[in-house]
Amino acid sequence: MGHFYFDGSDTVYLAKKYGTPLYVVSENYIIDRIDEIKRDFLGRYINVDVVYAGKAFLPKEMARIVKREGIGIDVVSGGELYTAMKVDFPSDKIIFHGNNKSLDELDMAVGYGVGRIIVDNEYELGLLNNVAKRHGKRVNILYRTTPGVNSNTHKYIQTGQVDSKFGIPILNGVIYSAIEKALKLDNINLLGFHFHIGSQILDNTTYVEAIKVITKLMKGVKDRFGFKTRELNTGGGFGIQYADTGERKPISFYTDIIMEEIGRSCRENGLDIPRVIIEPGRWIVGEAGITLYTIGSIKEIPDVRTYVSVDGGMNDNPRPSLYEAKYDGVIANKMDEDPSSVVTIAGKCCESGDILVWDLKVPEVKSGDILAILSTGAYNYSMASNYNKFPRPAVVMVKDGKDRLIVKRETYQDMLRNEI
Ligand code: LLP
Repeated sequence: MGHFYFDGSDTVYLAKKYGTPLYVVSENYIIDRIDEIKRDFLGRYINVDVVYAGKAFLPKEMARIVKREGIGIDVVSGGELYTAMKVDFPSDKIIFHGNNKSLDELDMAVGYGVGRIIVDNEYELGLLNNVAKRHGKRVNILYRTTPGVNSNTHKYIQTGQVDSKFGIPILNGVIYSAIEKALKLDNINLLGFHFHIGSQILDNTTYVEAIKVITKLMKGVKDRFGFKTRELNTGGGFGIQYADTGERKPISFYTDIIMEEIGRSCRENGLDIPRVIIEPGRWIVGEAGITLYTIGSIKEIPDVRTYVSVDGGMNDNPRPSLYEAKYDGVIANKMDEDPSSVVTIAGKCCESGDILVWDLKVPEVKSGDILAILSTGAYNYSMASNYNKFPRPAVVMVKDGKDRLIVKRETYQDMLRNEI
């Protein structure tokens, strides 16, 4: 009684069984989100596709779930690609991203036969053509573009503006020479364009702006080179619920307007509607995860604030210190008690900035209580570090009240494995 249950599992019991800090991820939640995409995007439109952005969360078990659910995956490094390969992820359903892919990574991707390589720049195009030639293959690519729009999100996770390290800017016309070059290469098959305007985006208007820009480009390349854009990848970035945002929007909030605008802009420009691909990461897995911590020391500074320290922090969740991200949390063993105090949740790293939540409303807490921080499914496990030599937490998957370990807790020995 009074315990916080997550996908049917008692989180206080999980904390005891596996120790803390602990990532807990709900399989049902992930499947529900994928089902919603299947119903309201894949089922509603023709010639559309979805790839899960693996950077959000990609232990092997997540790659297996994505594979089983039949959607594609977007990888951004040799390591993510390796993870997908280890679960025999169908190669044609993999999209490979990155603004500075190495020769080894390109070689691995072409060797495995990934479905699309999203080429970020002309330098990469040259490398890729040589790699593809060596493999005797012609590889399918999209060009990553920056449409020159500013999404309304933290500046560190904006990516659609001209001043970005990603992609080729559309606005100044440089992209035309890159396209011309791609069209001339024997081992490159340019299919179309990609943009990703940023992450944790809560409105849908920036997608519309970006589509207007990119369809103009599509018209331009048709007129200039007779090139027909067959694919348009509009990226991910769909926002979820954190402490400072409202409820997560349905997928159709984003995809309906994206499809509507693509239809309208293509008609206006006399273009055929290309295949449309989306790449959600956070929207699929963000709210599917929570992190459990044990409360340790409590420091009350009269008339100032109360610091409640937990056994994790910026190691397992760097988002508050990187992006000033706001999280909500509950005391998992006191769900039937009213919040009567306001405390600040501090991590245990040797950094003043290691604060998980400023001013969280909680019931009276004491050492040994279990804190659950919500919406930690995306960009927590995947961004965790060993700073201060804290081992990374374990990851437990829950489903219908059953729990299974999917990533073991790191040990001190694990951390020193490569040290000579
Ligand atoms: N596609 C591309 C090309 C991307 O770069 C990203 C995210 C996504 C898709 C997926 O975005 P999502 O749907 O998950 O928002 N570490 C930051 C987020 C960085 C996102 C980078 N790219 C954070 O914790 O907020």
